[in-house]
Amino acid sequence: MRTFCTLCVRGSIVAAKTAVPDFGAITANPRAVEVVQPLIDEVRRSIMARSVTYEEFHEAAAFLLDVGASGEMPLLLDALFEAAVDASASRVSSASPSAIEGPYYVPGAPLLEAPYVMPQRPDEPGERLLFTGSVTDADGAPVPAALLDVWHSDATVPGTYSNIHGDQPDFNLRGRLHADDDGHFALQTIQPVPYTIPYEGPTGRLLSALGRHPWRPAHIHVKVSAQGYRTLTTQIYFTGDQYLDSDSANAVKDELVIPIEPAGADHLGTAVLRYDFRLQPTPSA
Ligand SMILES: [Fe+2]
Repeated sequence: MRTFCTLCVRGSIVAAKTAVPDFGAITANPRAVEVVQPLIDEVRRSIMARSVTYEEFHEAAAFLLDVGASGEMPLLLDALFEAAVDASASRVSSASPSAIEGPYYVPGAPLLEAPYVMPQRPDEPGERLLFTGSVTDADGAPVPAALLDVWHSDATVPGTYSNIHGDQPDFNLRGRLHADDDGHFALQTIQPVPYTIPYEGPTGRLLSALGRHPWRPAHIHVKVSAQGYRTLTTQIYFTGDQYLDSDSANAVKDELVIPIEPAGADHLGTAVLRYDFRLQPTPSA
């Protein structure tokens, strides 16, 4: 009489059903273990501590699907986390404070010739502004021929960016200019105004659910580069802006909030924004 081994039969069935390709040895990525595992652990702790329900779990899954379908993943990551990445990356630096690049940088802006005037429409709205200052090293020595890549919104409310929002000529209010032999620069432009990040999609809905508005304070974006120095990407904000303390991108640093000097006789009727950029040498320089 043959004996019948239930466990043996079950084992062979399971083996047949679960036959999988040979993936080879699993090699953990140490950085993923260091960064991602604590993140997963923290989410699990939060689920337990806040008694998250299945309905909320499914709502979160639907939200992430919506973010993917809408193409807002970069926007969501910028809004929630880019400022933290910038703060982490710039912790040890002798350069001026950095800030997030944001999603509206476009390479290849016109290379301007002195005297520098930002490309703009003949009837460009907005207050005239002279953006001037210097580019030096950490010891205050001028960095001649440093290249400043400058871009900002227009002065419609809310502000919009050329090449992005469609109703301005390409590269309007975008330009590149060189500091002179003494490290000085001066750019005639207009004063940008606050703008909103896109708020009709899932990112905006999340901010709203968190009690946050989509506005960013007005700012001028600048990338400063020079041979032998780390490129500095930053933003200059204006004293008195109503959104400095509630920036939807959490990107404002106090050192980057600068008063605009009102128009005076010595400024030819133009308000002035002064900022001196300090660059950090590259390790090999
Ligand atoms: Fe911006």
